[in-house]
Amino acid sequence: MTKPRLLIIDDDESIRKQMRWALAQDYDVITAEDRPSALNAVKRKPWVVTLDLGLPPDEAGSSEGMACLREMLRCDPFIKVVVITGNTDKENALKGISAGAYDYLTKPVDIDELKVILKRAVHVASLERENVELRNRIDKGVVFEDLLGTTESMQEIFTTVRKVAPTDVPVLITGESGTGKELVARAIHQRSRRKDGPFIPINCGAIPETLLESELFGYEKGAFTGAHTRKKGKIELANNGTIFFDEVGELPLQLQVKLLRFLQEQEIERIGGKERIKVDVRVLAATNRDLEKAIAESTFREDMYYRLALIHIKIPPLRERKDDLLLCAMAFLQKFAKEFGKNFKGFSNEAIDTITSYTWPGNVRELENRIKRAVIMADGPTITPQALSLNARPEEGSKPSEPLNLKSGRERAEKEYIHKALLRHNGNISRTADELGISRPTLYDLLRKYRLEDFEQ
Ligand SMILES: Nc1ncnc2c1ncn2[C@@H]1O[C@H](COP(=O)(O)OP(=O)(O)OP(=O)(O)O)[C@@H](O)[C@H]1O
Ligand SMILES: [Mg+2]
Repeated sequence: MTKPRLLIIDDDESIRKQMRWALAQDYDVITAEDRPSALNAVKRKPWVVTLDLGLPPDEAGSSEGMACLREMLRCDPFIKVVVITGNTDKENALKGISAGAYDYLTKPVDIDELKVILKRAVHVASLERENVELRNRIDKGVVFEDLLGTTESMQEIFTTVRKVAPTDVPVLITGESGTGKELVARAIHQRSRRKDGPFIPINCGAIPETLLESELFGYEKGAFTGAHTRKKGKIELANNGTIFFDEVGELPLQLQVKLLRFLQEQEIERIGGKERIKVDVRVLAATNRDLEKAIAESTFREDMYYRLALIHIKIPPLRERKDDLLLCAMAFLQKFAKEFGKNFKGFSNEAIDTITSYTWPGNVRELENRIKRAVIMADGPTITPQALSLNARPEEGSKPSEPLNLKSGRERAEKEYIHKALLRHNGNISRTADELGISRPTLYDLLRKYRLEDFEQ
């Protein structure tokens, strides 16, 4: 474990020596005797600093020390500075605090007291830095709109969404149930020029065939018995926005013909209507059916398919995205723990084993629901397989691993081991490094090596 770096700024050499001697065991100590050398030392990124305010040329006052404080904070706003002042000089100490110092101590310095203050300061600094790191990673794209994804396949999907969102071309999104098809559709809408317009989903599989046509196209008064007033259909309601045909594979053939006209001409006719109505609607569609097979079986029109699938986004099932699986697990645990005001340290070892070996037939939705239920029901401190209502026993269907040479076997075990430790500590780098008995930089190197960076919090 590397020690946090501490910068001691004091013009008195004997004090610098004493403090170094007292603190070197816990800190990587560097020293400076005046403002220029202090500012130079700040470039070495100490986390904590002790600053004697009485620096030359103003040894008796505090102007030089205060200037040094301000400049250090400008260089590194996260740096934690403990100002040290004469024992009758509370006013300057308070000035230092209001200028951004973390805490103050009066001379003569009580080393034990200083140790406690520094320890807490390091703790706060590490939390702050981890937060910033997380935010940076989020900006880098682990979270895209509401979609989490660190695996290559998901990153490619984010790239496709970025590219197609500003256009008006139809996009077909396929994937098993619960893989996030609707979320992808919403992301496309959200990133398009239509984002302030409506996003209208229609589930083609859930509406009886007889109603679907009027749901989609609307009707005129008197079009059929019971049509007492004119009613707009979903396509018209989606004007200037996006319509999302969910479960598009369930569309009856006869309606496919009608829809095709709308897709080609951006015009519709209400049932019983005579005029053609111009609309401006982006079309997105999703299905978990194999449309190519449906075409072969003549239940889905080929021309319709090519219209809808100009761009085709295929979302892989969660079991094929092991890294996303753990990322999502952690993110959901954090989200629900916060939502329900509960505290969990993370997942138990068995829970991690179970999560990684289970096949997740319900994909992300199932994972989200199981974790939500576990957070509500479990008492902690960790989430167990029982809380997830999963058997601790690995899935029977899981494949036996292929033979490995020693090196790749060791690497695989190492990766898995680190992964689990991260999960246990909810992605906290310091605690994970601590448990593994390695330094933070070493852990960072390993995370890079095994492409686990995105699991840090
Ligand atoms: N990559 C992801 N990151 C975060 N949450 C996700 C992700 N994918 C799916 N979810 C969550 O899983 C649930 C299911 O997502 P969604 O409704 O988009 O799936 P779907 O593919 O449309 O499912 P279905 O085929 O059953 O309609 C939602 O609560 C969604 O927020
Ligand atoms: Mg859906």
